[in-house]
Amino acid sequence: IDTPAAPVSTINVVRKKLQGYVGFANLPNQVHRKSVKKGFQFTCMVVGESGLGKSTLVNTLFNTQLYPPRENVALTHESPQTVEVKSITSDIEENGVKLRLTVVDTPGFGDFVNNEESWKPILDDIESRFDAFLEQENRVNRRKLADNRIHACIYFISPTGHALKPLDIEFMRRLHTRVNLIPVIAKADTLTEEEVAAFKQRILADINYHKIQIYQAPTYEYDDQETVAENHEIVSKIPFAVVGSDKEFDVGGGRCVRGRKYPWGIIEVDNEEHCDFVKLRQMLIRTHMEELKEHTNNVLYENYRTEKLAAMGIQQDPTVFKEVNPVQKMEEERLAHEQKLAKMEAEMRAVFQAKVQEKETKLKQSEEELYARHKEMKEALEKQRADLEEKRRRLESGRPMTPEKAKKKGFSFNK
Ligand code: GTP
Repeated sequence: IDTPAAPVSTINVVRKKLQGYVGFANLPNQVHRKSVKKGFQFTCMVVGESGLGKSTLVNTLFNTQLYPPRENVALTHESPQTVEVKSITSDIEENGVKLRLTVVDTPGFGDFVNNEESWKPILDDIESRFDAFLEQENRVNRRKLADNRIHACIYFISPTGHALKPLDIEFMRRLHTRVNLIPVIAKADTLTEEEVAAFKQRILADINYHKIQIYQAPTYEYDDQETVAENHEIVSKIPFAVVGSDKEFDVGGGRCVRGRKYPWGIIEVDNEEHCDFVKLRQMLIRTHMEELKEHTNNVLYENYRTEKLAAMGIQQDPTVFKEVNPVQKMEEERLAHEQKLAKMEAEMRAVFQAKVQEKETKLKQSEEELYARHKEMKEALEKQRADLEEKRRRLESGRPMTPEKAKKKGFSFNK
């Protein structure tokens, strides 16, 4: 007799000791090998007024000329009339690990007399990337999902030394729920150490006051003490005071450093005593790149998706955490499953209806075109027929009738 399987929640899990090596300890290596083979992908957006050093910083971060050197950019380049969104994708490789890096730039941001709506094209772009992902998820074949979502947005704050500008606040307020915001103080070498410290305090106060959520490299229970300390160190530097440069200088002793040269000395980009560039790179590339992607998928995208589906009238599964008896729990799970199915069905129906509507509109359009063509041809034929009729009539009236024709028409001839 088949007994129904016990629901997962009622299964008692017992800890067992292995009597020898089985091999599943190798699972992390399998994941590692697979990931390296597949390669990684990361999309980063840079936003800030023109000339704040965005392209220089990106080149410095990835230690490559993603942006062509300024001298090679044509001087005839016209300034954009509105905020544009442009992306550059490059495949880079380090120690056999491949990374497809996309940098999304936003030329024109903050460069106009009226910058009131500067944030809008950028928000639209981020949301349209979410929409494209949602649309792919709803497809019947979801085997190859292209993820073009923005995983991090580096926001460049002008090194005024005062506080955030209304434009900075408006941008961050509008976008913090859609993207991992990483604020940086641009060209930090133009401020003294004390000025940077005071500026950071004021920026953080503004961010707190306006309840803006910036990305705070999280720490997990399973992290060891060293990682936790490193993370605290990173978080304590936010907003990162950065300096960018792809120029190298010989500082003696066979040491070459990337930095900016002044009459009084060299500001070293990779020196933590000089700026926070190293900490930014550590968070963005070395320790939290995957976390940034996960947060984008699990929190930012998920919230957007829920909002979008709720706006379409589809309800989110109620997730209630409470002690219940197994039968009640099973019933709840069954209901939740049904709701999930209904939600999926509604999503599919919505997509299907949109497709049908699109097809119908196209069909109607081609039907109208066909009808118009048919009418046109009919009219042309009609006209042709009338002309021929007229010609025939004129011919018949000007020419004597042949006996055969007269006979056909019912006339009789007397011989
Ligand atoms: P747009 O392409 O116009 O948006 O400019 P951008 O923000 O990409 O600035 P870009 O990197 O082209 O730098 C503009 C100028 O600032 C260049 O002359 C850079 O050499 C200089 N610059 C870049 N980073 C820094 C920095 O950290 N400190 C200082 N002092 N100058 C910098």
